[in-house]
Amino acid sequence: MVAKVVCAILIWTCLWVLLVSSLTCAFESDIDCLRTLKSQLKDPNGHLSNWVFENHTEVYLCKFSGVVCWHDDSKNLVLNIDLGGFGLEGEFPSGIKECSYLVVLNLTGNNLSGTLPSDVFSALRYLSAMDLSYNSFSGEIPDTWTNITYLDTLLLDHNRFTGHIPPAR
Ligand SMILES: *[C@@H]1O[C@H](CO)[C@@H](O)[C@H](O)[C@H]1NC(C)=O
Ligand SMILES: *[C@@H]1O[C@H](CO)[C@@H](O)[C@H](O)[C@H]1NC(C)=O
Ligand SMILES: *[C@@H]1O[C@H](CO)[C@@H](O)[C@H](O)[C@H]1NC(C)=O
Ligand SMILES: *[C@@H]1O[C@H](CO)[C@@H](O)[C@H](O)[C@H]1NC(C)=O
Repeated sequence: MVAKVVCAILIWTCLWVLLVSSLTCAFESDIDCLRTLKSQLKDPNGHLSNWVFENHTEVYLCKFSGVVCWHDDSKNLVLNIDLGGFGLEGEFPSGIKECSYLVVLNLTGNNLSGTLPSDVFSALRYLSAMDLSYNSFSGEIPDTWTNITYLDTLLLDHNRFTGHIPPAR
């Protein structure tokens, strides 16, 4: 009996430590995600000017423009990134794949060009909506988009893609 209780306590402690450490890692990687994202985009209109990373201990991503977090208490766990109409320039910001718990990515109505990197789709496991419409993306649509299990909205219209959309599995 005592052995059982001790065992149960041990298991719970292990689970708790695992959970807390994995969440802490998530915060760190989401900070890196947005830092990389900002560095990969040209922002001529200064919409990302409140994305300030200087003081690492005080970074609060949820106050950045266009960023929504999972929960106010979860501080830095990014749920949505909505940068529609910000006038951003450059290529698809591949750093986005570090935002592992991202659910909505909206980059509609910007000035983004170049091809879509295929590994981005494999990395964003929880993505349910992605809106890349009204940009200047070109090339083929990577067939890895079918790897996004929960994807139900994918808007790619008004770009310069070639080829056809790989079928969903
Ligand atoms: C960074 O944050 C720490 C902890 O809140 C604070 O003590 C320090 O003054 C801040 N530094 C700057 C440059 O804002
Ligand atoms: C993306 O944002 C635009 C407004 O900027 C909105 O009209 C559109 O519905 C959004 N797309 C998705 C998939 O939420
Ligand atoms: C995209 O960039 C071009 C030239 O850099 C500019 O003329 C155009 O107005 C921009 N479009 C948008 C939607 O910002
Ligand atoms: C992602 O999709 C590609 C093409 O459909 C497939 O070959 C690959 O095995 C998939 N990877 C994962 C991790 O599901």
